[in-house]
Amino acid sequence: MFKKTTLAASLAVASALLLSTSVGMASGTTRTETATAPAKASAVGKPRAVNYARMRPEALAEHLIFNTDSYDLAQPTQEGTTGRDRLTQDETQKICSELAYKRKDIDGKTAEKIQALAEATIKYPEGGIKLGDWKKGRELAWSGFGFRTAHNPDRHGPGREPGANCYNCHQLAEDRMGGTLGPSLTGFGKLRGSSPEMLKYAYDVIYNPHVYFACTSMPRMGANGVMTQEQIQDVLAYLFDPASPVNK
Ligand code: HEC
Repeated sequence: MFKKTTLAASLAVASALLLSTSVGMASGTTRTETATAPAKASAVGKPRAVNYARMRPEALAEHLIFNTDSYDLAQPTQEGTTGRDRLTQDETQKICSELAYKRKDIDGKTAEKIQALAEATIKYPEGGIKLGDWKKGRELAWSGFGFRTAHNPDRHGPGREPGANCYNCHQLAEDRMGGTLGPSLTGFGKLRGSSPEMLKYAYDVIYNPHVYFACTSMPRMGANGVMTQEQIQDVLAYLFDPASPVNK
């Protein structure tokens, strides 16, 4: 009961906010405007009757996420947005989802477009890319904590910083078992060397892997604000430093 009330209240606030931004007016007129709210805003919280069997996959996904009240869309996220923003696909995600459900390969022109979008997001440390502290990088690579939403968004703070989650998908050093969704990175620095080009490549991949792998499932750690430039450099040290267990 309590939950329902707060959800309804926050959705009301959300649609009021939507309205005031689109109309750009003083709050006094909000009530009158609500009656003529655009279909999209007023549909929130009132599931429409739909025929699932006749819907295209993307329409069904949109419907289940945004129209069925199954998720608290107004909840705050760590990056200072809302659940709704998290679940709204950006251009890259839309292109890649569409290709995935049509089981189509990406064409060269579309790949170039995604690459350009990704390149525009990457920021480099002043003074160039340098290796940080591999021990800190190791801790980050091990930790999968952070940036969860759902009913209780994670609280971050000292000692509860988000991790980098690398082991979920990659094998790295052999003192821990890693995932197989991504290729093994064991011995990465030893095998590839640590030229400035190789450091930049790895920095870019961690910051925004879409630069090299158009529709990858690897997260955009830098572009999404999960990792700072300094943390990326610590993880780079974990990959490249000869003293790191990755290269033993
Ligand atoms: C959700 C899974 C996932 C996570 C988490 C992930 N990666 Fe990846 N990564 C991949 C996949 C998949 C690829 C292969 C690229 C492709 O084909 O999509 C990849 C590719 C790479 C490559 C390029 C490999 C090569 O041979 O050149 C590097 C380097 C890399 N990841 C490092 C990392 C690091 C460091 C982390 C942690 C900060 C990380 N990844 C987190 C899935 C992931």
